[in-house]
Amino acid sequence: MNPSNHYKETSATVYVAMSADIVHPGHINILEHARQLGQVTIGLLTDEAIASYKRAPLMSYAEREAVVAVLKGVTNVVPQSTLDYRPNLERLKPDYVVHGDDWKEGVQAKTRQQVIDVLETWGGELVEVPYTEGISSTRVHQAIAANGTTPALRRRYLKRLLDVKSPVRVIEAHSGLSGLIVEHASVSLDAGATASFDGMWLSSLTDSTVKGRPDTEYVDLTSRMSTIGDVMEVTTKPIIYDGDTGGLPEHFALKVKSLERLGVSAVVIEDKIGPKRNSLFGTEVHQIQDDPDSFAEKIRIAKDAQATDDFMVIARIESLILDQGPEDAIKRGNTYIDAGVDGLMIHSRDQDTTVLKSVMSEFKGRTPLVSVPSAFPQETEEDLAEAGANIVIYANHLLRASYPAMVSVAESILRHGRALEAEELLLPISEALKLIPGNQ
Ligand code: SPV
Ligand code: MG
Repeated sequence: MNPSNHYKETSATVYVAMSADIVHPGHINILEHARQLGQVTIGLLTDEAIASYKRAPLMSYAEREAVVAVLKGVTNVVPQSTLDYRPNLERLKPDYVVHGDDWKEGVQAKTRQQVIDVLETWGGELVEVPYTEGISSTRVHQAIAANGTTPALRRRYLKRLLDVKSPVRVIEAHSGLSGLIVEHASVSLDAGATASFDGMWLSSLTDSTVKGRPDTEYVDLTSRMSTIGDVMEVTTKPIIYDGDTGGLPEHFALKVKSLERLGVSAVVIEDKIGPKRNSLFGTEVHQIQDDPDSFAEKIRIAKDAQATDDFMVIARIESLILDQGPEDAIKRGNTYIDAGVDGLMIHSRDQDTTVLKSVMSEFKGRTPLVSVPSAFPQETEEDLAEAGANIVIYANHLLRASYPAMVSVAESILRHGRALEAEELLLPISEALKLIPGNQ
């Protein structure tokens, strides 16, 4: 049989699902087999489907569709909007599904069985092609990541994530080492998905605390930018910068330019003035909320200052923190939206999220919403997304994890007059040496 024209002689239909973000010889091998069996329809995973289980694709659906549509043997491209093949298979009832033989075990085994079972209902068949060793999209992605990124690519990636997934999962980083953890931490979940963080929060609290300084806007921009530099050196993920109050409007405009030039994706400023205190103190300390119109003017000046469309200025509303009530928060949110803000973070330190969620519901779908669940850790990302959150920020967790660990070891050494008892709390030296690429 001549594989190049056999498909013209048969009316059999073949379904192949793929992401095709980076097309490599493994894809071509599968397509070669598929087109020998019949007319090939590609089930192209949508951006949302891909982002639900791994890093959002580099290319948009339309770009990926343009590539796969012209591959040899492909007669049709349809969106596959879930990891589950069955909705498309039930609609198209193909004679064959072709897939690499690398999904028999592990996280994809369940999806595979579902495909076999549903095909059986109309006599379809799963054809598995020997996996092309040594090449995979994950490997190519890793190679790209190892090569680093550029400020422009990193900066625009947050908006791209917001387009394709909700919520975008962000955690604080305060150093190169914590940045590395955010970059690489990944766990396998059920149903073939992996979970990892999408971006980093450059918290003023943790950046100040790690330096042993108060979170009162005392650590200056030069020092904060040096932390950004440390984090950026070893990561590729987007950064949201905690801009405190932003300072004077004219200074804030300059900060926006600096942050944008570095490749930061977004700055969050809170609507407070004067000596800033951490929000989690609420009304226990003296904090003054800015006049909403003055704050709106600060937003306008910042939006005028930015050079690209990629950079986002997000307003953080402190009304619930300062017991000003939900109506004040809603009024301010509307004022800030009118001023051109790119998103809202309605901050709260109440474990009960009823009031917070009622404020969020006013803005859900109107502008990207950021949620910081430090005081309400019982809420899952799903709960927060349901309430309207597009970004969830774990604002201080890596720093809070490291402090008790360090204190325990310090106290153990003091208690025993030696380090032996602390060893079990420690990363083995051999692993510590391997932690940073380039040590060897
Ligand atoms: C930070 O992480 O510095 C924040 C969030 O601003 S909070 O500590 O909750 O105020
Ligand atoms: Mg802060």
